[in-house]
Amino acid sequence: MAVRALDGWNHNIHYHPELLRAVPRPCLRALDAGCGLGAFARRLARVAAVVDAIDRDAVVVARARELSAGTPNLRLTHADFLTWPESSYDFVSLVATLHHLPFVEALTKAASLLRPNGVLAVLGLHRNASVFDLAPNVVVFPVSLCRRLVHGASEVGAPTRDPTMTLTEIRTEAAAALPGAVFRRHLLWRYSLIWSKGPDRLESRCPGSP
Ligand SMILES: C[S@@+](CC[C@H](N)C(=O)[O-])C[C@H]1O[C@@H](n2cnc3c(N)ncnc32)[C@H](O)[C@@H]1O
Repeated sequence: MAVRALDGWNHNIHYHPELLRAVPRPCLRALDAGCGLGAFARRLARVAAVVDAIDRDAVVVARARELSAGTPNLRLTHADFLTWPESSYDFVSLVATLHHLPFVEALTKAASLLRPNGVLAVLGLHRNASVFDLAPNVVVFPVSLCRRLVHGASEVGAPTRDPTMTLTEIRTEAAAALPGAVFRRHLLWRYSLIWSKGPDRLESRCPGSP
């Protein structure tokens, strides 16, 4: 008999394992921004000591709290990521959230919340620029339907919006904002960005450093 995933399956949940592989170990503090119903934050709370999960939609946060009652190290807060005041995180994630935000401002904000050696992980959505973007996703769509049947479809249950940036625009702007970020294109209209803050970025700003 097929084992149903804890939170069901959708195009974002499919990529949770890839994002979780980027979490530094140990991970004392993590932030999931735009957490929606908290599916990723609950998985993150299994590998991080303390997880902050924030969303600017109050109804979604209330539902996420109900769904997360058995996860005591997960703190859910109704807040806007762009003005979130806490920092010094080992890991920050944006799962299907970046296209809701001003792209460069959000990446810069996320990077500023990390401690040295901290990691930023983005699962993003992109707009189709041509038939070459559309075709592979159309081909794989029957697989997506089967997955939903086997694992149970999981609705995002949070505000959604269509992405406006193409993969080329995303790759170009991300490379300028976060040099060294590892960009990967995925099926199902998704991409990932993994960026490590590195230990020397603060030191390199010190006067007299080489
Ligand atoms: C498409 S949903 C994704 C939710 C969840 N991460 C998931 O994978 O199911 C995008 C979420 O980002 C939230 N969001 C958008 N802008 C935000 C902001 N400035 N601060 C915090 N959350 C935001 C929305 O309220 C929504 O819940």
